[in-house]
Amino acid sequence: MMESFGFPVSAGDFRFRAEARIVRRLLGRVEHNGPVLDLGSGVGYWAEEFAHSFSWVVAVEGSNALYPALEERCTPYSNIRVIHGNVLSFEPDGHYNLIFLGGLLMYLDENDVIALLQRLIPCLGSDGVILCRESTVRSETVTRTGGYPVVYRSVPDYKRIFKHCGLTLRHVERNEPYVLMQMGCELIKRWKRVVPEPFQALRVMGRLTYWGMRLGRPWISRLPKVLGIPFPSLENHFFVLGSGDYL
Ligand SMILES: C[S@@+](CC[C@H](N)C(=O)[O-])C[C@H]1O[C@@H](n2cnc3c(N)ncnc32)[C@H](O)[C@@H]1O
Repeated sequence: MMESFGFPVSAGDFRFRAEARIVRRLLGRVEHNGPVLDLGSGVGYWAEEFAHSFSWVVAVEGSNALYPALEERCTPYSNIRVIHGNVLSFEPDGHYNLIFLGGLLMYLDENDVIALLQRLIPCLGSDGVILCRESTVRSETVTRTGGYPVVYRSVPDYKRIFKHCGLTLRHVERNEPYVLMQMGCELIKRWKRVVPEPFQALRVMGRLTYWGMRLGRPWISRLPKVLGIPFPSLENHFFVLGSGDYL
């Protein structure tokens, strides 16, 4: 996806590895000797990552287009079970140490989010957590319809929903690698809007932007906040949730 902005192929890998380091830190206190449930697993990058450290992973994906790639990625791992189906009708059994929702909730309306979370709570092991990684907006929640229906919720909106479900929010953290790449994408989008296509030199501009972002981190992603500029328009946050009080 990031290649359409002129970023190198390795940009996606850079972001994933940086996010994976954060996820490992966030899960530091979670017992790794139990199973993981990865809902809306896409092509399975996270399922594969969890299979290295947890004993067992169940990955559920609804897309007909993505499921074959998930299957292919996970076949070499005897501790991953892949399921093709809708998470809303999926009946989880057993108790999970980690339930990972990576970019899933933005595809569900609020009633479905609440119904899903309430169904998942009894499936959490005693010290288990739900880890959400969701695209967010700074102000009012944005609901898009049409070809790409999606809900970009604000952090306070997510907090309200989690509280309504009876979940305890243990930690919330901006996903800095995601925001960094998002800044680059939004800069390139602006470039494409103002420069006529024959002069865009996307391959050059994309790489300059990408490397500018990488070399300028961590300060570059903090700059808009310091200057009071609401940029990028889309952020992303990790939410660590538990079903009881945090000890
Ligand atoms: C933004 S992608 C994230 C994929 C992966 N979790 C990751 O973080 O790389 C969200 C995924 O959720 C899947 N999805 C959305 N709604 C779903 C549903 N109701 N049931 C199953 N999968 C769903 C989509 O097909 C997509 O693969």
